[in-house]
Amino acid sequence: MLEFGGHRPPLQKMIIRDAVEADLPIIIRIYNATVPTRMVTAELEPATVEARLPWFREHSPEQYPFWVAESDGRVIGWLDFKRFLPRSAYRGTAEISVYVDENFRRRGVGQRLLQHAIARAPSLGITALVGLVFGHNERSLKLFERLGFERWAFLPGVAQLDGVQRDLVMVGLHCGKRSSSSLSSNDSAGKIEREENEYKPELIE
Ligand SMILES: CC(C)(COP(=O)(O)OP(=O)(O)OC[C@H]1O[C@@H](n2cnc3c(N)ncnc32)[C@H](O)[C@@H]1OP(=O)(O)O)[C@@H](O)C(=O)NCCC(=O)NCCS
Repeated sequence: MLEFGGHRPPLQKMIIRDAVEADLPIIIRIYNATVPTRMVTAELEPATVEARLPWFREHSPEQYPFWVAESDGRVIGWLDFKRFLPRSAYRGTAEISVYVDENFRRRGVGQRLLQHAIARAPSLGITALVGLVFGHNERSLKLFERLGFERWAFLPGVAQLDGVQRDLVMVGLHCGKRSSSSLSSNDSAGKIEREENEYKPELIE
C-alpha cells in the first residue's frame, strides 16, 4: 500500500462533482483499499459494487449528496452525506464519510472535500455534521479537527477488529445558525454561527 506521511504539493487541478452510478466501481475500489488496514471502516470484508448500489441510490444531490473529487478525468476521492438517525428531529444532522485514493493523499484532497461539505451544508438544510472515526485513525481525526470539528462522543471498545477492541469517536461541527435557546453560556457565537457563504469553494481549481 502506498502511503505518504508528509506533505506533498497540493493538487492543482481538481473538480468536485456529483457522483454518478458509473463512478461506483472506483468509489468502491478506493473504499476497499482501506478494509484490510482495519484503520477506517468497521466492514471486515471488501464491498461489491452490486451490494453497494442501494446504498449509493439513497443519496441525492439536494438532500444527501455523494460527491467525487476528480483530477485529469480520474476519480481520486469521494465524500458522502447520510442520514444520521431516522427520527425527524435529527433531520438537520448528517453523517459524512470521506475517502481519498491512497496515491493522492496528503495533497489537500480530503480537506477540500470536507471544506466543500461544510460550505454546502446550510443550503442542504443541514445544521450539524458528524463523522464516526475509529479512535486509532489519527490522520482522519486530525483532518476533521483541522476543519473545526470537535470530539462530541467517545464510545470505548465498541468495535472488534481482528480480536482487538477499538474505540469510536464521534466528531461534530455546527455549520448553520443555532437557535438562541439551544446555546449554552459557554458557546461563542463566532464559533457556531457559520454562514453559508463564509467559505466559497471554487468547484474547478
Ligand atoms: C483521512 C483522509 C481522508 C485524509 O485525506 P488527504 O487528502 O490525505 O488529507 P489532506 O491532504 O487534505 O490533509 C488535510 C489534513 O489532514 C491531516 N492529515 C491527513 N493525512 C494525515 C497523515 N497521514 N498524518 C497526519 N495528519 C494527516 C492533517 O492535519 C492535514 O493537514 P496538513 O497536511 O496541513 O498537515 C485519507 O487519509 C483517507 O482517505 N483515509 C482513509 C479513509 C478515512 O479514514 N476516512 C475518514 C473516516 S470517514
